[in-house]
Amino acid sequence: MGVAEFYGRWAALYDRVATAPGVARWRRAAAAHVADRGDFVVEMGCGTGVNLPYLSEQVGPEGTVVGVDITGPLLDRARERVVELDNASVVRGDATRPPLSDSDGVLGTFVCGLFEDPAAVIDDWCDLVGSGGRVALMDATATEEPLGRPLNPLFRAFVAAGAPGSTPREVLRAPFARFDAPLSRRVEASRTALAARTEDRRYETFAAGFVGLLSGRVH
Ligand SMILES: C[S@@+](CC[C@H](N)C(=O)[O-])C[C@H]1O[C@@H](n2cnc3c(N)ncnc32)[C@H](O)[C@@H]1O
Repeated sequence: MGVAEFYGRWAALYDRVATAPGVARWRRAAAAHVADRGDFVVEMGCGTGVNLPYLSEQVGPEGTVVGVDITGPLLDRARERVVELDNASVVRGDATRPPLSDSDGVLGTFVCGLFEDPAAVIDDWCDLVGSGGRVALMDATATEEPLGRPLNPLFRAFVAAGAPGSTPREVLRAPFARFDAPLSRRVEASRTALAARTEDRRYETFAAGFVGLLSGRVH
């Protein structure tokens, strides 16, 4: 099953997970990392648009926010979400071949683990914002923080359950296998690529280290 088909099927459930209590704090922080007043900011893989109100508030009335996603049913929900926001809109498109050529900032949350070649995608996003522009990535991985480590098996099952194409057997075995290893490799590759292209970087973690937010200003 492809990414768009998978997320399209689970759009309503995904929206509930994406708006779970406590998650708002991470999303507000992500918006603050990437957007300033008056900016034009693009969110790649915006899903149901949960970040868009935070980005909209951050850029203010003189700024603009565009959400991009390949999954129609998720974008429908995102469109409902932005209908009352004067400075935000959504467009269907592929984040690995951005449909926009210029912006002040690019945000990608929980999306880099889905790309075949995340380093190449991050390079393109850095080119898109150009020198002085900001790129921010927020992703979940297993944690090394002592408080969270006992929950890593649960995290692996969550990753398996949320991965396009995984079987029930894989979900059951995930806590005992490194099911999350490809995801972690991709997230790591995206962070390494971002670090190579940026300065003035900030990194913060949430949820006992399961969620990491890295941002930087392109050289
Ligand atoms: C785990 S969801 C995250 C959604 C949203 N960023 C959030 O934080 O709630 C991953 C999203 O990435 C989108 N996506 C995956 N690959 C994509 C691509 N190549 N281009 C655009 N969107 C993509 C999916 O459709 C889905 O909406």
